[in-house]
Amino acid sequence: MNLEEIKKSAIEAIESATIKEALNEIKTHYLGRNGLLTGELKSLKEMTMEMRRDAGPKIQELYAEIEKKIEAKLQLFSGSSRKTDYTAPGKKFQYGHIHPLSQVMEDSAKIFRGLNFSVISGPELEAEYYNFDALNIPANHPAREMWDTFWIKGEGKNSKSNYLLRTHTSPVQVRYMEKNSAPFQIVVPGRVFRYEAVDMSHEVNFYQLEGLMVGENVTLANFKYVVEQFLKEFFATMDKKIEFRFRPSYFPFVEPGVEVDIKLKGKWLEIMGAGMVHRRVFEAVHYNPDEVQGFAFGVGVDRLAMIKYGVPDIRLFYSGDLRFLKQFKSS
Ligand code: DAH
Repeated sequence: MNLEEIKKSAIEAIESATIKEALNEIKTHYLGRNGLLTGELKSLKEMTMEMRRDAGPKIQELYAEIEKKIEAKLQLFSGSSRKTDYTAPGKKFQYGHIHPLSQVMEDSAKIFRGLNFSVISGPELEAEYYNFDALNIPANHPAREMWDTFWIKGEGKNSKSNYLLRTHTSPVQVRYMEKNSAPFQIVVPGRVFRYEAVDMSHEVNFYQLEGLMVGENVTLANFKYVVEQFLKEFFATMDKKIEFRFRPSYFPFVEPGVEVDIKLKGKWLEIMGAGMVHRRVFEAVHYNPDEVQGFAFGVGVDRLAMIKYGVPDIRLFYSGDLRFLKQFKSS
């Protein structure tokens, strides 16, 4: 046998070995005292100096290679003298799937992209300034009571601002406008936090989708069209036409403010807050409120998911209970 043949047969043997004992035999057969490669090494003695110089390193290299391959495979069997039963039936691979809340956010983002909105994100750990002050909710303003806040201890190094877990996705409005100029239209899906007692419709964290459209002539009528398109597409699978209404409401960062309800089984359910961006918010980001206007909205993602999938309790989304989650496997 020449070296190539030895190499080929050795590798084949190693690869097809299924138990430790077989590998030990292979080792003896090729590398043992009377092994094939050992024989080749011994035959070097009978060669001329020149031949030896050529063949020696090649044999040694192959010796090392085979040894390494055997050792590597032996590792697989180490720690247990049990022989692997290759005929045992395999374990079924468990595929994961997307969480219903992620699905709702993806679906929503897709619909808004179709309406020419860009999808933006912002930080969950937020400065008080962005979460409140810049949104026309100064310290000590009673409106702060609307958001039960998780405050973060300690202060930022370079900032006078206190930190908190954002109570809504609205701060991203401010962050976006600080860096971009109008006209634009964005949506911001993301997680928000509230220091609240948990019950079937409240969680300490949940998801929102913020929207903001600003330009010279953007009105509440444009908002009405956008909501209608969104709801139509989002609930398309529910085959009934979705009825919705605007109800006057108050949020410090909009004027006028509204709440949007949809009608389900004869009952009106609130799904989002919205309104025309307050001029103080524009002033905070150095926009001229006499030149631009726009609408903003914040949808409760969990609420949308509960309605669409008929989920009675928000806590189910966060329970990690696979019996619940698996129901969404093909959605
Ligand atoms: N940020 C509000 C909340 O979490 C929801 C909201 C209301 C967002 C009105 C808006 C808006 O953009 O215009 O309660």
